[in-house]
Formats: sequence, C-alpha cells, structure tokens
Amino acid sequence: MAAPSGTMRAVQYDRYGGGAQGLKQVEVPIPSPKKGEVLIRMEATSINVVDCRFKNGIARPFMPWKFPFISGFDLAGEVVALGAAVSGFKPGDKVIAINFPNGGGLAEYAVVSASRTVARPPEVSAVDGVCVPMAAVTALLALRRAGVSVSLDTTTTTTTRPKNVLVTAASGAVGHFAVQLARMGGHSVTATCGARNLGLVRSLGADEALDYKTPDGAKLRSPSGREYDAVVHCATGFPWSVFRPVLAAKGTVVDITPGFVSGVTAILQMLTFSKKRLVPLLAASKKEDMELLLGMLEQGRLKPVIDSRHPLGSAHEGWAKSMSGHATGKVVVEIGAAQPE
Ligand SMILES: NC(=O)c1ccc[n+]([C@@H]2O[C@H](COP(=O)([O-])OP(=O)(O)OC[C@H]3O[C@@H](n4cnc5c(N)ncnc54)[C@H](OP(=O)(O)O)[C@@H]3O)[C@@H](O)[C@H]2O)c1
Repeated sequence: MAAPSGTMRAVQYDRYGGGAQGLKQVEVPIPSPKKGEVLIRMEATSINVVDCRFKNGIARPFMPWKFPFISGFDLAGEVVALGAAVSGFKPGDKVIAINFPNGGGLAEYAVVSASRTVARPPEVSAVDGVCVPMAAVTALLALRRAGVSVSLDTTTTTTTRPKNVLVTAASGAVGHFAVQLARMGGHSVTATCGARNLGLVRSLGADEALDYKTPDGAKLRSPSGREYDAVVHCATGFPWSVFRPVLAAKGTVVDITPGFVSGVTAILQMLTFSKKRLVPLLAASKKEDMELLLGMLEQGRLKPVIDSRHPLGSAHEGWAKSMSGHATGKVVVEIGAAQPE
C-alpha cells in the first residue's frame, strides 16, 4: 500500500496560552514516516491534562519546542505505511501508540516510532484502547512504585500482602484506572472524589469512598480508620502534613503531579531515612505495560470510563472539559467521527 500523500485535517496551536479557543482547525501535509516510524490513519486520540498544561506554558520553552504544535499523545488507528527498518507491523494493523512528547494525535494521520506502538486486540475498540497509553499506564506505574501488586503484573517484586491503598481524584483519568487495578490485585481501596461520583468509584472497586469536599475528605481520613500503605495521589494541592497522619508506618505516597515542593520533600525524607515516603513519579509508557493493560481490556477485567467523545471538529470542547479539572474518566477525540448537526 502506497503511503498517502496530500493534506489532512488537524487541530493545532501556535502559541502558549489562550485555552481551548486557541486551538485551530487546519489543513496540513500528511507526515511521512521516517526510519523506524509507522504512519497511522488515526481513529481516536485522548486529551490528557498534560496537553492543556503544555499549551498553558508549564514547560516553556521546552514543550512545545516549536510552533505550530499538534497535540495528542495517545494514538489509536490503523497502520497505513512503514518507514525504513520497521518490522513487526504491516499496513492494515490496528494499533495503539504513545507519542510523548511529540504529540500529533489531533489529526487524521500521525507518525510514531514503531518502538512505542503495540497491536490493538480486535475486542478492544479504538476509543477504549486510546485511554491506555498515558492514563492507565500511569496508574499501573504509580501502584508498582508504591509496592502494590496488580494481578497479572509480575514486575512488582515487593510483598503481595493485601494493602490499604488510597487513590485521590479516583474519578479522574488516572484515578479510575488505579482503583480498578488495585482492586484487581486484591487490595483494600479507599477513593476520594466529588459527591456525584461516590457511586461510580464504588462500582469500580473502591470499598470506601470519600467526598473530597467534606472535612474528613479534606483530611483523607478513612471512614473505617484504615492507615494507608500506599497512596496513588492524582489530586493536587495536598501538603505532606495531610498525608503523614493517615499513613501506615512505612506508607508511600506516589505523587503523579510532582513539583518543586514534592521534589524537596522527597529528598529531605531520603536524607533523614524517613519511613513514610513521598515519591514523585514521571511516568514513561513502555510497550509491555500497554500490552499488559490492553490484555486486561480484552479480557473485560479493566474498563475505561469515558467522560465524553468529541469529533475532531469539536476537539476544543473536549480540551475545555479536560482543562476544567472536572472530567469523569477519559476525554476522547474520535477522528473521522461525524460532526453533530
Ligand atoms: N506523572 C505522570 O506521568 C502523569 C500522567 C498522567 C497524568 N498526570 C497528572 O495527574 C493528575 C491527574 O490527572 P487526571 O487526568 O487523572 O485528572 P482529571 O481526569 O482531570 O481529574 C478530574 C477528576 O478529579 C476530581 N477531583 C478534582 N480535585 C479533586 C480532589 N481534590 N480530590 C478528589 N477528587 C478530585 C474531579 O472531580 P469533580 O469534578 O467532582 O471535582 C474529576 O472527576 C494531573 O495533574 C495530571 O497532570 C501525571
């Protein structure tokens, strides 16, 4: 099959700031796969908080390092052409990929390294599969980093004793996967979320759910008085002093939104041999983890919660939802989906 040429629809931005309204619908050349890359005809991408943060300039001037920039790091689609020296894929293969930090998902075609691309099982839809690369993998890595085993996951070498796990912002993109994965490992799960999602997080496997706007929720206090062995911290804005009283003697908090303060706290704890630890995590998605999680989706053991689906022409609406900090689960953009009348 010859590589498609010509132009494609894409959504890009050309400066920092400006929110969702700064996204532009454009017609740009279809990219060509270079050595080691595949060209994917896109079916879906997802919008992650980091897309919006990069646009807001949190990592300027490094990310994006040049404009215009097509965001979208999670990719789902069909391989249509191969660059030189690619093996293991052929045109027509349905795939899932992570293209961080290059992006490119908010477009009809995207190129990505074959080393970051995995086969999508036929039982897993593009919309469900595209929820895996960033959000589900981060949940898995955070649990592992906290020493929490997940069923089918043989990489966690620590004890497999059931643990008390707290997941903050458990209704969010990462949190809702963390709840399911921790439960799958046979652990006891306490989850924090807004009042409207208490039932949802229980249905995902949390055996305790805390409304974060209540006094106990703000203090992360378990209704049954549990002390947490592990915390997958997906919310933001909690100082270490909130965690310390609710942790077990060797409790670990994995902070997936690490900043300067959590970095300094972690270093001080290391220097003072603190048993309770804060661990900053910057997740990097590997093929084997994407495959493990897609396998769980295939078996129906893990289920993405989709906040909303948006056609490419309305990507700005999904972007605004993600930026609001009030999505329930994942925000997905479907490429090729019809624009609502
Ligand atoms: N380290 C990494 O590699 C990595 C990877 C992915 C994400 N992240 C980071 O992880 C964080 C979470 O991302 P996400 O995509 O999962 O978030 P998200 O989907 O935007 O989370 C939104 C959800 O969190 C709930 N929520 C907001 N504040 C809360 C609080 N204080 N306590 C409990 N629930 C709260 C909201 O509920 P209401 O609507 O009811 O308020 C909403 O349902 C972000 O900062 C993101 O940048 C890091």
